[in-house]
Amino acid sequence: MEISFTQREPLKEKPDQNSLVFGHEFTDHMFVMDYNEENGWHDARIVPYGPIELSPAAMVLHYAQEVFEGLKAYRKPDGSVQFFRPSENFARLNRSNERMCIPPIDPDDAMQALNELVKVDKDWVPDAPGTSLYVRPFVIATDPFIGVRPSHTYQFYIILSPVGSYYPRGLEPARMHIENRYARTVRGGTGEVKCGGNYAASLASQVKAHENGFEQTLWLDGNENKYIEEVGTSNFFFKADGKFYTPALVGTILPGITRKSVIELLKHWGEEVIEKRITIDEFVDLYHQGKIEEVFGTGTAAVISPIGELEYAGEKMVFNNGEIGPYSQKLYDSLFGMQSGHLPDEMGWMVPLDE
Ligand code: COI
Repeated sequence: MEISFTQREPLKEKPDQNSLVFGHEFTDHMFVMDYNEENGWHDARIVPYGPIELSPAAMVLHYAQEVFEGLKAYRKPDGSVQFFRPSENFARLNRSNERMCIPPIDPDDAMQALNELVKVDKDWVPDAPGTSLYVRPFVIATDPFIGVRPSHTYQFYIILSPVGSYYPRGLEPARMHIENRYARTVRGGTGEVKCGGNYAASLASQVKAHENGFEQTLWLDGNENKYIEEVGTSNFFFKADGKFYTPALVGTILPGITRKSVIELLKHWGEEVIEKRITIDEFVDLYHQGKIEEVFGTGTAAVISPIGELEYAGEKMVFNNGEIGPYSQKLYDSLFGMQSGHLPDEMGWMVPLDE
């Protein structure tokens, strides 16, 4: 694929690496590519990062025909840059595209676009402890039409953001409530794809959680309000009686790449990991039997987010005395260690920036 390049003049001033918060700063350039039925995906270009022009009737603005991804690039101690499992993200992007009636993007083209863009903005990849370059690929429907049907035109973008910790409290365990009024997704819905609508639907619960002094929501399934699904923007894990549990992927849960990696890593360490449907009542029973050892979420943005408390049906459950559990810490240290190149890539997950 040919990618044209328009350089930003002058380049922006870079933010202080030691005070990066999540998702506020963007680099000098972005990748854009257009789609129409005549030419397919075409006109790949790297251009200065900035506002985009869209018709007010663009279909994405009305019916949310949109998908996105999130992955990270890391600066290694020797100064080189590497990505964490990027082909997993581009495979999932195409699964999301299929569900949302968006034409697929050749994964090799997507990888080339990512590589070229990060090469251009390589100086933005931070190296302060706990930082990385968050990569946000996304596709939007651009037809100026307000009838309901799949768009005939799209744009694929990649933007880059140097980031620190996703949660302002970093690895400090979160307090969590269970959502009992709203559903994030339902059977046959879009729960297993990464589309903006899932996140829009979660906002009312997030607001409610914050108003009531919680940082996160634990979602139960939208059909029976009984099975544990996800937590906040992450997948849910707990350790009970020496084994690890995570909800099975049943169509309503995001198949997280960090989820998959945590399962693989735990198994690599000889731990037992059970993927199954887990009811909230089973979880509460295990808690009452004193078997829950630690609870945490996993996600690209947050990596590992320990959970210290869960309120359900008027009861406050506290895990590991509200402190980060030994496995949450070990998983974070191992994953971030491999990602940032401070530990060897023993799982073969890292992909170097091709210069
Ligand atoms: C991620 O973890 O990368 C996500 O996409 C979750 C969130 C920031 C929306």
